Amino acid sequence: MGFDQYHEPPEELSQETRTLARMFASLTEEAEAINWYEQRLSIEQDPEARSIIEDARHEEYKHFSMDLEFLLRRRPEWRAIAEGVLFRPGAITENADAAEEAAEEGAGAAGGGDGDGSLGIGGLRGRS
Ligand SMILES: [Fe+2]
Repeated sequence: MGFDQYHEPPEELSQETRTLARMFASLTEEAEAINWYEQRLSIEQDPEARSIIEDARHEEYKHFSMDLEFLLRRRPEWRAIAEGVLFRPGAITENADAAEEAAEEGAGAAGGGDGDGSLGIGGLRGRS
């Protein structure tokens, strides 16, 4: 494995940013593995082989989910938007637009998240 996850000189990056870069790389690898298993399952005919591949894919679902949860815990603003998109019924794009809008509204509110429909991330934006 190389160091392709860096787009800036690694020695100039904080330890936190380097950890995030590793987790982003891991998230990508887990998604790739799920994709590979999906493709293998689409053509594999042997039931025992299919069972093993399905078991492996199941593990990758877990790995991907752990990586994503780690990243969302480290980035509350991202988490707030994700909560407006993930595990919700309805049109994904409409949910995403609403989540983004709520995040932007929250940026202008002091504190946010007070039952006005915002995602409560107002205090997280604009800090720098
Ligand atoms: Fe994995």
